[in-house]
This record gives sequence, structure tokens and C-alpha cells, in this order.
Amino acid sequence: MKAPSLQTIGLTKRFGDFVALDAVDLDVRPGTVHALLGENGAGKSTLVKCLVGFQRADAGSVVLDGRERDIGSPQAARALGVGMVYQHFTLVPSMTVAENFALARGGLGAIVDWPAKIAEMRTFMDGTPFTLPLEVPVSNLAAGQKQKAEILKQLYADNRLLILDEPTSVLAPDEADEVLGAIRALAHAGRLTVVMITHKFREVSAFADDVTVLRRGRRVAAGPVAEFDAVRLADAMIGAARRRELPERGPVVQAAPPVLALEGLTVTDDAGRRVVRDATLSVRAGEILGIAGVSGNGQRELVETLLGQREPSAGAIRISGERYRGRRGEIARHGVGSLP
Ligand SMILES: Nc1ncnc2c1ncn2[C@@H]1O[C@H](COP(=O)(O)OP(=O)(O)OP(=O)(O)O)[C@@H](O)[C@H]1O
Ligand SMILES: [Mg+2]
Repeated sequence: MKAPSLQTIGLTKRFGDFVALDAVDLDVRPGTVHALLGENGAGKSTLVKCLVGFQRADAGSVVLDGRERDIGSPQAARALGVGMVYQHFTLVPSMTVAENFALARGGLGAIVDWPAKIAEMRTFMDGTPFTLPLEVPVSNLAAGQKQKAEILKQLYADNRLLILDEPTSVLAPDEADEVLGAIRALAHAGRLTVVMITHKFREVSAFADDVTVLRRGRRVAAGPVAEFDAVRLADAMIGAARRRELPERGPVVQAAPPVLALEGLTVTDDAGRRVVRDATLSVRAGEILGIAGVSGNGQRELVETLLGQREPSAGAIRISGERYRGRRGEIARHGVGSLP
């Protein structure tokens, strides 16, 4: 089995009167990584759901390796070697990597000869750019290893068209590069064809061969990545006129007093782990403060604490100099808002 080509022709999907996909043509060359870009709600997930049989298009067709295919169910997609890797992990955490692989491939008899199975998996893995411990429970793996296991699981199940929906959002940048580098190597070796949904321009230019941009359900741009720089991608995604309307960055008023201040704030998660440790920071009037980090590093618990949904175990929060505990009255008085 080798990397297939994929086309959609005039793919259309409506939800009531709303047209989520409007006659979308997609052309994915075999053995390439094809990026699918678009704003929230542009129709990316709807398009790939039609490819993996979770949704049925109202019109148009899907052509796999030159043959029109009716992918009416996830089973039909699986039988055609089409697999999907999600943003969040779908491995069974308490099972080992080998057990997960065997489960994905199916066809196990009543009695499994594990030593033979694992030897076979080792040989299979030697032929890929990945190395993973096979006999370790998935829950013990780091995030990057889990995402590699998701991809390897698809390969082991003989899937040759992989659809990746934001595969790097839970990975640190170096892990993301390693995973995407391995995916590209597999594609360029002719073993995989990849459609990758991403919002990160850097990943598009560094790892994808071609790109298709959707806007409000329509294809607005497509072609080799080399023909697109970040400005052209942004214009295609949101429209050149809208991009020019975006306000210029205003000056930061250094002298403004801090509106929000955290003083040695420590927060524990539900399992009692200290996920925010001794955090001290301040945000002045007119500022936007970014907090960076891979998900699962205390961001959620920090926001919950700022909204009074979680008690800090140490430290203090001040708003405009006043002690703040996220009580309803305080939230109303200070005009604290949250946009999840
Ligand atoms: N089952 C559904 N019923 C009604 N409307 C839907 C349904 N699924 C999606 N939509 C709508 O179709 C549009 C496209 O949604 P879709 O999920 O494909 O966007 P997306 O490009 O994947 O966005 P995101 O980047 O947020 O994942 C959206 O306006 C969405 O609200
Ligand atoms: Mg989506």
C-alpha cells in the first residue's frame, strides 16, 4: 500500500439553510503534506468529517486514487485506509503502546501471542522514523511521544491517507517540529498522504508542500506553499480589506498603575498538584498580557482562580490595589470579564 491521491470535487454541505461547505475543490497530491487553513468556522472540520465518514456531503464527490468513493461511515473510511489524528489523544491510557496498536488494527484472535506480536511491531517500527517504548502504558508517555504513537497507530492499521486536525496544539514547539518532521519524511518517502489542519503559519511554511485556504465555506486560495508568504496567507484567510482594518498596536502607557496584580500566587489542581507556583505579575491599564505554555501547565487553574472558581493556596490577587478574591460582588464592581 502506498500514498494515495485525494480530490474533492464541488463538495457541499448544508446545515439547514446554512452552507458550511460551498462547492469546495481540494487537490492533494500523493506523498505530500497538504495544509488546510481557515478562520474559526471556515468549514475545515466539516470538510474533513466528510472525508472520514462522520458526515455525508449533500453534493459533490470524493475521489481517492482516481476513483470516486462513497465514504458513508467511519468503517468505510477505515476500509479505504483513511485515518484521522485528533488534537487530543485517543489512545487508551492504561493500555501499553503495543496493546493500543493491536486494538487499532483489529483482527485479534481469542489468544494473542504477545512476544510474537511485539517482535512484529518492532520490525514495523524500525521501518519508520519513530522509536517508542512498546511495553509501557500510554499514560507514562510524554505528550510528544503520545502524538507519535497516534500517528504510528494509524500506520500500523494500514491507513495511508492521514487527516490531522491541529495535531500540534498540545505539543511544545520542539516536540511539534519533531512530529511534523517525521510525518513529512513518511509522506516524501511515498508511504503517506497527509491533510493537516493548522492555524500556525510557521508549520505551514516549514512542513507543508501545498496549502488550501477556506473562508466561509468556500475555497479562496490553493497552491504550493512556496507561493504563499504570511501576508498572502492572512489575506486569504480573513480578507485583505479586513486585515488592513485591524488597528495598529497602540503605545503601552508605562506610567499607568497596575490594574491586576498577582503576588506570590500558588494554585493547586484537583489532584492537589501545585500547578501555579509563586506567580507574581502585574498588568497595567491598556496592556494585554500574554501567558504562553502548552496546555496543562496551570493556565486553566489560573483563570479559574481569577474568576473565583478556585481558592489559591497561597499569595494574593489585587485589582486596582484592592484585595480580590473573585467574589460575585467584587467581579461586578471591578468589571472583570472572561471570554472562554
Ligand atoms: N452539526 C452542525 N450543525 C449546524 N452547524 C454546524 C454543524 N457543524 C458545523 N456547523 C457550522 O458550520 C460552520 C463550519 O464549521 P467547522 O467546524 O467546519 O469550522 P472549522 O473551520 O473547523 O472551525 P474551527 O477552526 O473553529 O475548528 C460553522 O459556522 C459551524 O457553526
Ligand atoms: Mg474545526
